[in-house]
Amino acid sequence: MSAPVLETLEIHHPDSYAARGFPWAAWDLLRAEAPVFWYAREDVEPFWAVTRHADIMTVADNPRVFINGGPRLRLTLKGHPELGRAGRDDFGATHGWDPDEPPDMVFMDNPRHRHMRQLTSWAYTQGAMRAMKPHFEMLARQFTEEFIASLTAADGEAVDFVHGLAARLPLVATAEILGLAREDWDRILIWGDALIGEVAPEHRLPGESKGRASYRLMYELRSYFEALIEESRANGAARGGLIDRMVHHEVQGRPLTNQQLNGYLLLLLAAGNDTTRNALSGGLEALLLHPAERDKLMANPALVPSAVEEILRWTSPIGNFLRTAAEDFTLADTRIHAGDTVALFYPSANRDERVFETPYRFDITRSPNPHLAFGFGAHFCLGTNLARAELTASLTALLPYLPEFVLAGTPTRIRQTHVLGYHHLPVRMAVRGVC
Ligand code: HEM
Repeated sequence: MSAPVLETLEIHHPDSYAARGFPWAAWDLLRAEAPVFWYAREDVEPFWAVTRHADIMTVADNPRVFINGGPRLRLTLKGHPELGRAGRDDFGATHGWDPDEPPDMVFMDNPRHRHMRQLTSWAYTQGAMRAMKPHFEMLARQFTEEFIASLTAADGEAVDFVHGLAARLPLVATAEILGLAREDWDRILIWGDALIGEVAPEHRLPGESKGRASYRLMYELRSYFEALIEESRANGAARGGLIDRMVHHEVQGRPLTNQQLNGYLLLLLAAGNDTTRNALSGGLEALLLHPAERDKLMANPALVPSAVEEILRWTSPIGNFLRTAAEDFTLADTRIHAGDTVALFYPSANRDERVFETPYRFDITRSPNPHLAFGFGAHFCLGTNLARAELTASLTALLPYLPEFVLAGTPTRIRQTHVLGYHHLPVRMAVRGVC
């Protein structure tokens, strides 16, 4: 491909992300020549593309000026509903929901955002995760052994690492924290895929398009949460998970409505599922493509925590979040006007040569590693401790098997610009003695 130029570079189309992954070359050029760039293309509403680490931190750390409660939060093509806003319309219309209520707390600003966040943040603290560590380690070992058994049984054929292993711990951990029943986990995995617009052919009805199927599955997921909320209201806090606490606690002196609870649960499920699995599958790929780093890690498992940070920087599973300027603001000598949309490209920040030495080098000993994979500021990821705990447990369990894996065939990427990573990453067992 020819080198990008500012006039025509492309960083917004889900098809390009699905075909080629992150637009690294375009972001490199933007950071070098136009770090706050007015991006105007035919099929997307225009926005300011912010690509440098320092500028992204300035915006994210200034929630009074750059608000989440504006009209746009995630990058989409013109005329396409934003992920997270879709589905609500269908379900909400049949359940008398208030169309002006924000879908979840990510769309809110302070003080309301802070109060909503406090309702669940206690469940994701470092202390809470420390208590779950042995359990996560046990699950990670079990899932890894089952995956290795399936690879062995496949007898040299490729097996999908994403659904076979990477998706399992994030799903189960989230489901357990929320208090979802074990028999629902398979369905939740299907819904989790639909949330990112992916529906396997076997989960579509005859003649149903992928888009229509994901709409239907979102409706099902909303109905599932609705039933759990009603059950919790009827039975008191009998289930014992976070759902019960959310239903039976107040925010700013009032219990949440079903609509608010449903949106909150969807957020916790969505945010906790796809991101972590993408980090793990991208992390496995990085280790297999960089055998010297893999060997270093195997020789010294004490490096797992720093490898996890490098995997987060390297994979950066969230591609962007948008903000709306509530007033005029000058960022990197560029005047942003009230009402303008600003897009924060976290993966670009994680390759910023002003902050990271040799940013395109995958280095599991990188220190310091101030990546922005979890964002920054008021909306900083609520699940960082959980994600780190899951990744640490998974990587530790995988470690002894790393030399057994070989990348096999062509991976497919999620067709999105928001949550990024592989939808399928085929791997197979290494054949011993064959070069
Ligand atoms: C590798 C895994 C993950 C990555 C890369 C990631 C990344 C992010 C990013 C970039 C944001 C937005 C931050 C901002 O706007 O400044 C965010 C927000 C959020 N994340 Fe994560 N996340 C991950 C895992 C999780 C998990 C496991 C949970 C489970 C609870 C979670 C829950 C949330 C929630 C609820 C928010 C919204 C916070 C708010 O608006 O106050 N995330 N995450």
